[in-house]
Amino acid sequence: MRSVGQGKGVVFAEVPISFGLTSGLNPIICVRLWFLYSGFLCVSAVKGFIFFKANHMNRFVFLTDTHYWTNAPADFSAPKMLTCGAEIHEAMVSAINAIDPDFIFHGGDFLCGGSSFDLPTEVFEQSIRDVRSYVDRFAAPFYGIPGNHDCDAQTWSFESFTEAFDTPEVLAVDQVSDKLRIARANVFIGDTKQWGAGEWTDQHDELLREANRDAMAVSVPLLLCLHSWILPDGPVKEGEEGRGCVRGAARLLQTVTDCASICVVFTGHRHLNRITTIRDFLIVDTSCLIGYPFGFREISLSDDGWFSTTFHRLTVPQASEAYGQRDDAGEDAHWEGQPHHQNRDILIPRLRNLLS
Ligand SMILES: [Fe+2]
Repeated sequence: MRSVGQGKGVVFAEVPISFGLTSGLNPIICVRLWFLYSGFLCVSAVKGFIFFKANHMNRFVFLTDTHYWTNAPADFSAPKMLTCGAEIHEAMVSAINAIDPDFIFHGGDFLCGGSSFDLPTEVFEQSIRDVRSYVDRFAAPFYGIPGNHDCDAQTWSFESFTEAFDTPEVLAVDQVSDKLRIARANVFIGDTKQWGAGEWTDQHDELLREANRDAMAVSVPLLLCLHSWILPDGPVKEGEEGRGCVRGAARLLQTVTDCASICVVFTGHRHLNRITTIRDFLIVDTSCLIGYPFGFREISLSDDGWFSTTFHRLTVPQASEAYGQRDDAGEDAHWEGQPHHQNRDILIPRLRNLLS
């Protein structure tokens, strides 16, 4: 009995021979035809393989604002569903491992420390241990940055967070593959109580410009990640920042504009999906995972300059049902964004230029 694979091979090889013989051609010519046909098949297969490889430079997951609180007593404001943290985190680990990404990036606010929640220190510490155990179950390399809720509400210290998770002092650059670097910015190095959306300082700016020079020298694209927004979603008064924007956002935007290796900026914090094209790069804001729409982004960057994002929603029946019963849930579209803010293919000129 022949296997399916053997059968396919014989069928392919026999095509020109049987066709030639039934056409009355000389058997030697039939054999030459067979060699020509086999060669054509091999060249096609190799071309197909090279094409496939060329279109997948990197594929990774970006998630943010997972806001875990061990045994949370309440959900707090929409779209968060803090009381469903265990169900949501279990689903998160399964769904992300099922995608098998090259790496995973977290945009900050792993926890519920800092302002608003007034978490006791011992509960904050337990929550860190629980989050660490979920993260340890990811199969792919994991990178992250702190958010404003990753400090102890009682002391405003990030010390326990930085002991549990690799945290940039100011800005760290990771070579995540031979063709991609990520700049991780920690914008909470100052007074987080006063500046809840963090600060972009001289030090951040100098380090990012240096990272850009290094990346340009070897033609490697750079992705910048920080927790808070850069682009406001409304008019901004002189001397103020937009809602949820890092202090110094306008300066940061100018720096990113100047730095031609930075192809995409990723943020979280506002719990909204939004994608904006600025000049020849993208700013990608992502909604929270702990609440509606309960999801994360799968990102692909191809070496011919294409950015693709797919928003994956977790299967969390209890959290979804409970969210639907909230009085303050509001419009779903506000949180999940319009369809093109969730799933979209976009050509990034900077990415194409760097890799061509
Ligand atoms: Fe935040």
